[in-house]
Amino acid sequence: MNSEEERLQPFEKRILCIGAGYVGGPTMAVIALKCPTYKVTVVDINARRIEQWNSPQLPIFEPGLDEVVQKARGRNLFFSTDVAAGIREADIIFVSVNTPTKSFGLGAGAAADLQYWEKTAQQIIDHSDGAKIIVEKSTVPVKTAEAMQRILSSNQKGIHFEVVSNPEFLAEGTAVQDLLEPDRVLIGSLPTETGKTAAAAIVGIYAHWIPRERILTTSLWSSELSKLVANAFLAQRISSINSLSALCEETQADVTEIATAIGADSRIGSKFLNASIGFGGSCFKKDINNLVYIARSYNLQETADYWEMVLKINDFQSRRFVGKVIRQLFNTLVGKRIVLFGFAFKANTGDTRESPAISVTRQLLEERARVVISDPQALDNARLDLADVENQVEFEPDPYRAAAGARALLVLTEWDLYRKLDYQLIFQGMEKPAFIFDGRNILDHARLHEIGFHVFPIGKPALTHY
Ligand SMILES: NC(=O)c1ccc[n+]([C@@H]2O[C@H](COP(=O)([O-])OP(=O)(O)OC[C@H]3O[C@@H](n4cnc5c(N)ncnc54)[C@H](O)[C@@H]3O)[C@@H](O)[C@H]2O)c1
Repeated sequence: MNSEEERLQPFEKRILCIGAGYVGGPTMAVIALKCPTYKVTVVDINARRIEQWNSPQLPIFEPGLDEVVQKARGRNLFFSTDVAAGIREADIIFVSVNTPTKSFGLGAGAAADLQYWEKTAQQIIDHSDGAKIIVEKSTVPVKTAEAMQRILSSNQKGIHFEVVSNPEFLAEGTAVQDLLEPDRVLIGSLPTETGKTAAAAIVGIYAHWIPRERILTTSLWSSELSKLVANAFLAQRISSINSLSALCEETQADVTEIATAIGADSRIGSKFLNASIGFGGSCFKKDINNLVYIARSYNLQETADYWEMVLKINDFQSRRFVGKVIRQLFNTLVGKRIVLFGFAFKANTGDTRESPAISVTRQLLEERARVVISDPQALDNARLDLADVENQVEFEPDPYRAAAGARALLVLTEWDLYRKLDYQLIFQGMEKPAFIFDGRNILDHARLHEIGFHVFPIGKPALTHY
């Protein structure tokens, strides 16, 4: 079918998503699956990414995504680099481009870099010939919709654009499940007639498969700010338990027992209480930095300091972890083969953005260790993250080969695979004394100790043979 024939297909609505990343791709695939009468097109300036979305090898690893894409692609789901055509024919445009932390100028290291965001606004103006609803899917600072509305209203064609906020709460690794059965969908709009009509149109998309009571409609500003606050609260829980894991190690208390004890209190709840080397991912750090920056810009220093502490604890936790490795390996890592089990920022994704493994690797290299990285999905990204030191690092997908001749194993990602390895066999092939530092508390520590390892979990007594 050529593009003109495609245009003439009797689709009820035409949805465009600008940005075919971790959010845009899966979100649009699920919308296309659930709304077969809508045409859903995802565009990106990255031609390689679009090529991969159109191939059997999708650009991101996400459980269940292949099946969803296979069902909808070519039927009512299309991936393209033709941003202009996509904009022209769309009734509703989701903007899901990256909004990283600014690395230059005012607000460097804290504020959101909205250059990609603003560029899409300009593209929308340039290529539109009729009214459209613009949906903020990217995570943006509160009040971004106001700026977006201003830019879009400056068009000389007299076109009305209505900006609606619809932040995405999916988590990588469970994205498809999160999209199929979200706890809630949030849609924010202006309280005007056009605002309410636009919000109703977006509600209409999700109502195809999500119970109406789980679709929340709020003001634009509450919606934008809710996304930053949700990530700040989630990260805060991780930093809270991690801050106490350090105290547990000093007092022989066990952080897992504490998490179980406090998590049983329904007011606290049991999720996000696993102590670890710390959180990673593209969102938590950038969104908290952004929240802190916004609070400071309103001169709310205490609010800013409070949330900034969540990030400080996260840094403390990974530095503390490496410090323990150095101390336990007799204060020198020079020439020692140290193996990282996992490089992705969490299990079930190949994403390594802000993964604690990056800083752990760099710290180990500074100590002149021989670092070997193993991961079932993230080695390509790891190579890019470590491009400047690539020749000092070995990448080995097979955990057994990686561990051969090693002095220490560091579990950095909670892949199920690492629970199931034959550690007796691994122990035999390692230099002695052999160490395991379980940065995710996923292994059977008593069993490893029995095999002969010195075992160092997070936030619980070490099991050594001294
Ligand atoms: N990754 C997550 O888990 C997650 C979850 C919720 C929300 N978010 C938010 O969603 C947004 C997107 O995140 P992501 O992880 O999908 O990012 P990503 O980097 O994977 O994808 C963004 C894509 O946008 C494309 N792009 C940038 N400018 C463009 C333009 N002008 N025209 C066309 N394409 C353009 C880029 O090439 C890239 O492929 C961010 O604001 C993020 O904070 C991410």
